[in-house]
Amino acid sequence: MHLSREEEQACQGERGESLRRAMEILVALGDIYGADRLIPVRSVQVAGVSFKTIGEAGLEWISDLRGKVAVPSVLNPAGMDLSRWREMGVDEEFADKQIEIVDTYSRLGISPDCTCTPYSIRPDSARRGDHLAWSESSAVSFANSVIGARTNREGGPSALAAALVGKTPRYGYHLEENRVPTVEISVEVDLETSDYGLLGYIAGREVDEGVPRFSFRQRPKEDELKALGAAMAASGSVALYYFEEDAPKAPRGAEEMTINEKDLRQVREENAPDDEVDIVALGCPHSSPAELEELARLLAGRKVERELWICTARKVAEKCPKLVERIERSGAKVFCDTCMVVSPASDRYRKMMVNSGKALAYVPGLCKIKAAYGSAEECVKAATRRD
Ligand code: F3S
Repeated sequence: MHLSREEEQACQGERGESLRRAMEILVALGDIYGADRLIPVRSVQVAGVSFKTIGEAGLEWISDLRGKVAVPSVLNPAGMDLSRWREMGVDEEFADKQIEIVDTYSRLGISPDCTCTPYSIRPDSARRGDHLAWSESSAVSFANSVIGARTNREGGPSALAAALVGKTPRYGYHLEENRVPTVEISVEVDLETSDYGLLGYIAGREVDEGVPRFSFRQRPKEDELKALGAAMAASGSVALYYFEEDAPKAPRGAEEMTINEKDLRQVREENAPDDEVDIVALGCPHSSPAELEELARLLAGRKVERELWICTARKVAEKCPKLVERIERSGAKVFCDTCMVVSPASDRYRKMMVNSGKALAYVPGLCKIKAAYGSAEECVKAATRRD
């Protein structure tokens, strides 16, 4: 990989040990994937935040780093709401470690906004055509597919290295030739909002690492695209998809598939809730103001009977205090900075009902509990009774 004089100096350790380590990671990655050079990134989203996922070894690794990030950077969700962790049932020992992790990242100049929807709180962090180094799979999918920016799915260390250097190796989804659709998917059903997570769950399993191009009967809304991309990134490894009518078509001879009403019904039935559900968790990916508004409407005049969590970014919750208050009047809890998958607080339940294809795919493996699926309305009904 070609390096500038300044980058060479950083590699030699002439600009400090932390930059040397960061460059070592970026150069190794670039060499493995055949990058020709490093390119500047507009922003970075760093994964590896929950103490549940990085543990002592991860904390030790980041604690050794010094200096400041070179570009605006945010964090992925942590293992708990940073202020209401007791209400989640998180123990003090975990909380101390989690706070230490977020403080350590903050000292490096990374904003302690812990969210998988960084675009919802910082629209200027990603614009069409920008190169980024984002980590969380649903955010990567949204950035590539909906915003039209360019990012690979970074691991925690490579994202952190990109944040310190302000650059990432030029390979993968940064290159035009890797952004060509590889499979055409015709969706032959009129979709409800809650169908997009299921559609992504099905499509991700089929497409795996490919780049699907969807033909829809109607144009999806932004939150629906967020749900679709998140699910495909979890049941498969889809980091880029196309949904607009005028998007480039997959080359002649590419795989074609259809998804219809029967496919959706089958997955819905296989994952229907039952009496074992003892927690309902919404907000995967983190809820937008529009989704909070819808939940406040659905929860009006109802009282929580089973634990009901709604996850969102702290800045979104702070922007809509009245919505949060209306939601919490029912007994539901709006948690910030965290999510049901990366928090150890989920692990004590038996079965979690979700309205997210991504959570449906991840909860059994990462929380070791069962998962069921329903629309937001069905989830609210499962967790509450009429007041
Ligand atoms: Fe976000 Fe957690 Fe879902 S990181 S996309 S809420 S699994």
